[in-house]
Formats: sequence, structure tokens, C-alpha cells
Amino acid sequence: MLIRRPADIAPSEITSPDLYRARREFMRLSGRTALAGAATLALPWSAAEAAALANVQPNRQKIDDKPTRLKDITTYNNYYEFGVDKDEPAKNAGVLKTRPWTVIVDGLCNRPRRFAIEDLLKLAPLEERIYRMRCVEGWSMVIPWVGFPLASLLKLVEPQGSAKFVEFTTLYDEKIMPGVKYPILDWPYTEGLRLDEAQHPLTLLAVGLYGEELLPQNGAPIRLVVPWKYGFKSAKSIVHIRLTEKMPGTAWNKAAANEYGFYSNVNPKVDHPRWEQDTERRIGELTKRKTLLFNGYDEVAPLYAGMDLKKNF
Ligand code: MTE
Repeated sequence: MLIRRPADIAPSEITSPDLYRARREFMRLSGRTALAGAATLALPWSAAEAAALANVQPNRQKIDDKPTRLKDITTYNNYYEFGVDKDEPAKNAGVLKTRPWTVIVDGLCNRPRRFAIEDLLKLAPLEERIYRMRCVEGWSMVIPWVGFPLASLLKLVEPQGSAKFVEFTTLYDEKIMPGVKYPILDWPYTEGLRLDEAQHPLTLLAVGLYGEELLPQNGAPIRLVVPWKYGFKSAKSIVHIRLTEKMPGTAWNKAAANEYGFYSNVNPKVDHPRWEQDTERRIGELTKRKTLLFNGYDEVAPLYAGMDLKKNF
């Protein structure tokens, strides 16, 4: 799987942050694969879970963008259940308990199942994927995720022929989530993908980043990552995945259908009513850069062959 290098990335940017370099050096010296090394260093996962990381695949992507600082990725967040300001999720989400955790996968499939998080961690080899993330608000990051393809999970439950969409529902817990008392969204936060989008090899279920277990503010213990779509499609702290025939409603689309379409593919030619989309500010950089169609992931274009992307925004 090749991630093309956008023309506007200078060679000088191809340097990882110190922390990342140090981890890679550790992995090189210890002869371990990416995450096995990181697990030894920092992961608070149980011994059994850490053992599941022994087979982590090193990053197979070719992306030259400089990863965003870990501090920015973990303190500049959108997780409205824990507050609307960017620094609130990091302050408030620490109370999120990620064990025990179950994800129900059901709907139009032959083998509906409840997966314990421990089973999800062992379901497929964990991979490191360095992806660009573009928020509809006009900022972007580059995040080294750890996870596995959503397609591996869907294959296990055997989608039926009538299944056309996948709905994601995330945790709703008013005892720990101060944000859900405000009717900003129709809680719980829900999202959706077409089945072929969900099965695309780029679509990831992330369980970690920068070689460490996902922090609550980033959607622990398991979240979606769809790198060619605006960040809000990547639902955090997933508890339910349902295969459906009809296009599911999504939290943002229900809140403002003229602002947040079901597809929400990154598209510099389709402006949001409040934010122009042809440029973006990469967190940690001063100047703006051009936004790329599908966030630069051209390999997804065939999914939308023949579709009017302005109408199906
Ligand atoms: N998932 C839930 N459950 N609640 C949210 O508020 N925010 C979305 C998405 N997933 C959100 C969510 C938005 S708007 C963005 S941009 C990304 O998460 C941000 O992910 P990050 O904070 O890990 O960068």
C-alpha cells in the first residue's frame, strides 16, 4: 500500500520528533519490531496483551510528512463528550475506564459477536500506520497510529449480501462525560461508512499511537481512523458496530446536514459554510499548506467513480 508523497513537502521535513527517533533507535538496537519495542518501554497493557504485540508489523507505508508532536496529538483534541475546548478532553477523559471493554458487532452478518478488547488486540497483527489527519475545522496532523484493518474484523462476522453500510456507536456515559449534558449532538456519537469504504485496506481500527496504548482523549481503547475523510468520521471509543442496509444517520449529519455530509471526504473544492477547505494549518507549522483531494490518498478514488463529489459531500 503506497501513500504518495505530496509535492509540497520539503526534504527538510522528513525528520521525526526526538521521542520517535529514540524509540526507533531502541527498536533497532533491540532488534524488535516497532511495537514490541515500544511495548517493552511504555505500554501499560497486561502481559498477555503486550504479548499480542509481539507480531506487530513495522510501518509498511511510505509517507514523508513529519509526525506531529506526541504532546500536540494528546492535548489538542476533539472529543465533545469530554468538553468542547481543545484542551478539555486531555483534562477530563482520564476517568474513562477501558477495561473491561466490549465491542458488539451485529446487524446484517452471519456471525454476530461480542468482542472483548483483549480479543480485538489479538484479532490481527497490529500495524503501525502513519496517516495524515485533516479536521474539517482547517487544521491537520500526522499521526503514527497502531492498529489493524477494520476489514479483518468485518470478515470474521461475515457480512450478508444485503449489508451496504456500517454504523459505529461510541461510548455514552453521563457519569463521566460532562459534555453529554449539552444537546450539541444527538448522543451517543455515531458515525457511518459505506461497506466498501469500511473494507478498504486504509481504514483502520486504532488501539495505540506513537507506540503506546491509546490515551482516553484520543478515543481509547479502540477508535476508527479513516484518513481520506475529515477527522469527525473517525469515531472514538467504539462500543457497537452494526451492518445495515440503509445509510445510517450520523451525529454530525443529524446536527447540521448542510454542513456535514455522510461522505465527508477531504475535498479542497467543497467548502464548509464556515471554513474554507482549500488550505490547512498543520499543527506545529506556521504557514498554511494546500489541502489535497482525499487528503492525498488517491488510491480511494475508485470508490467514488461516477459520483458527483459536490452533491455527495
Ligand atoms: N468521537 C467521539 N466519540 N466524539 C467526538 O467528539 N470528535 C471527532 C473524532 N471522533 C469526536 C470523535 C473529531 S471532530 C475529530 S477531528 C477527531 O475525532 C479528533 O481526533 P483526535 O482528537 O484524536 O485528533
